[in-house]
Amino acid sequence: MKRMSKPLLTVLAAGILAGLAGPVAAQTPDPGQLVDALEGVFGKQPGARRSGAKGVCATGFFVGTPEGRGLSTAAVFKGAEIPTVIRFSVGGGNPKAPDKAKSVRGLAIKVNGPGKESWEQANISAPVFFVNSPANFVKFFEARRPVPGTGGPDPAKVKAFNDAHPDVKPQIAYLASAPVPASYGAVNYWGTNAFIFTGPDNKKRAGKWVFEPARGVEGLTEDQLKALPNDFLVDELKARLAKGNVAFNFNVQIADAGDVINDATVPLPAGRKVVNAGRLVVEKLDESGASCDKITFNPLVLPKGIAPSDDPVLMARPGAYAVSLGRRLQK
Ligand code: HEM
Repeated sequence: MKRMSKPLLTVLAAGILAGLAGPVAAQTPDPGQLVDALEGVFGKQPGARRSGAKGVCATGFFVGTPEGRGLSTAAVFKGAEIPTVIRFSVGGGNPKAPDKAKSVRGLAIKVNGPGKESWEQANISAPVFFVNSPANFVKFFEARRPVPGTGGPDPAKVKAFNDAHPDVKPQIAYLASAPVPASYGAVNYWGTNAFIFTGPDNKKRAGKWVFEPARGVEGLTEDQLKALPNDFLVDELKARLAKGNVAFNFNVQIADAGDVINDATVPLPAGRKVVNAGRLVVEKLDESGASCDKITFNPLVLPKGIAPSDDPVLMARPGAYAVSLGRRLQK
């Protein structure tokens, strides 16, 4: 056997290492770096989620519609009322964030489908996410780190980041124009990432979903906001639940061939077909936190019949959620 010369071996080894740690690996942050980025702005809040830190657990059920069964073979659409763990939240990593903030609200669910088939999701009250890549997620928070003196972000850094990253504009514009939600139960919650649904006809359709409150959306006026305390969302939901169930229609907007389905900052064009695939009913608040405090809602836990798109933001989520769960469970 012919022996390779030492310099050739060295060159090959260097090449293999460069390949392993190539440009993609160098630019894609690992889950720990994603969570570090959140902690850089919000700090390490003991026991709290590093994002969606303020929130409340609830329980209810998800039920699929006949149209849902046409869209996906997933057992969660078969028509039975499936027990579901729910968590509502206020965006960001501050467990004392004011409910009056012009930030996103969150709706996370874990549908405990038949045969232990679980479906987990975390959705926000904006049709788009605030960055289109994990690398920009880290840079977004780095630009917003609190500076000595004000304790807030450096506005010049924020502006420079926003000017250089047009993907942040759609969510900023949406939140500036939308009223502050009057209730966890009266606002739309979008998935923003696309998923691929396989139907009984064996066809695969890409779509993005939204939960729309059955009794409509309610926003607060400036005067109403002034009159409210910083914490009102839990009491409001309690009162709403006492009057009757809080429910959401689960609607999936179907992408046409050629639509962008790998970018959470780009909504599908208006006018695409919408399938009313299910209904989420919120039954009870769980202020003890027992049903959801120690779990995470991993958007890649999907039933058979729903698959992820290749959106890099979606792919980055499970790792970061697991790291956040690990850190918040540490004593
Ligand atoms: C690079 C992308 C993302 C990263 C790194 C990230 C990171 C995180 C982390 C670390 C948590 C806390 C998890 C826990 O402790 O259980 C979290 C929670 C959450 N995220 Fe994300 N996220 C990303 C994208 C998204 C997107 C696209 C959405 C929805 C459109 C979203 C909605 C939520 C919601 C609603 C929560 C709170 C969930 C709960 O109540 O447990 N996130 N995220």
